[in-house]
Amino acid sequence: MSKRILVLPGDGIGPEIVAEAVKVLDRLGTDGLDIELDQGLVGGAAYDDHGTPLPEPTLAMARAADAVLLGAVGGPKWEPLDIALRPEKGLLGLRAELGLFSNLRPAILYPQLAGASSLRPEIVSGLDILIVRELTGGIYFGQPRGIRTLDDGQRQGFNTLVYSEREIERIVRSASEIAMRRDRRLCSVDKANVLECTELWREVATRVVETEFPQVELSHMYVDNAAMQLVRQPKQFDVMVTTNMFGDILSDAAAMLTGSIGMLPSASLNAKGQGMYEPIHGSAPDIAGQGVANPLATILSVAMMLRFSLDEPAMAARIEAAVEQVLDQGLRTPDILSDGMTRVGCEEMGDAVVRAL
Ligand code: IPM
Ligand code: MG
Repeated sequence: MSKRILVLPGDGIGPEIVAEAVKVLDRLGTDGLDIELDQGLVGGAAYDDHGTPLPEPTLAMARAADAVLLGAVGGPKWEPLDIALRPEKGLLGLRAELGLFSNLRPAILYPQLAGASSLRPEIVSGLDILIVRELTGGIYFGQPRGIRTLDDGQRQGFNTLVYSEREIERIVRSASEIAMRRDRRLCSVDKANVLECTELWREVATRVVETEFPQVELSHMYVDNAAMQLVRQPKQFDVMVTTNMFGDILSDAAAMLTGSIGMLPSASLNAKGQGMYEPIHGSAPDIAGQGVANPLATILSVAMMLRFSLDEPAMAARIEAAVEQVLDQGLRTPDILSDGMTRVGCEEMGDAVVRAL
């Protein structure tokens, strides 16, 4: 039976970059990949049409799909909206409704792009780290939350950081399984010196790794130190596992080590192996519609989809090799451009990957 993929282009540069990733999927289709694509609306695009960033038909199609490919959501146009109607809620809703608790964010430095990093080549060359971010709990979803008025008339904003043992266990398990397929080093990031919630996180992480993954070498780090170590000596890490909000912050910092956030894919997985795949960068409204966005992060997200949801590791490797090949050819979108390289647009880059395939 063919696999169903729901394509959600979203906002800003989303439609441009997703179009290139779809070309790659179509190309693999001619090589025997048996897939059917559906399209849906999410984010600001969905709000404009349906008055909600996550319409029911989109959610129903996502539930029925084997995998979801998402571009990006958000933009200044929707910033005045109430937080519950903003495009970002569409993304958070998909994560929550599909139970996509395990978010894999690799930060890999392509040797061809070493010069684009803000850090010295010897600090970042060969960098290959993976941040595993808990994605459906923590302060992003904790109740109670809101803005209330105090007795003295001033307003107070509040959110709640909560993690149950079960939530911690499953994300640490997910990260440990991946660490077992890599260098078997796992660093759990918390703020256990201040926050009880992450004191529990540390305790449960230790128990899960000690009892279920004795070959994994576990270390713990406070999040402030982890942020510093990421820019000081990033290659000390193999796999990092952390909470929703710490992972949001650390993964942006890690992305920048690789020179361009335009290169990095991500996977968000649930317990059934269903996944949502998206580039780490956002909707980049400042360059939307100009044809200059870098489609490689989205194309590499397709590779993650093939590996984690479609059980096609060989095809995933082919995409990754094709991306390396276009980089070797010197083709660069503006975000990764350097001296002596050939500047190309979004579509040309996508076409080059398809040719390399
Ligand atoms: C991310 C983004 C999202 C997040 C936003 C768009 C809601 O920053 O995927 O990292 O905070 O999780
Ligand atoms: Mg983020």
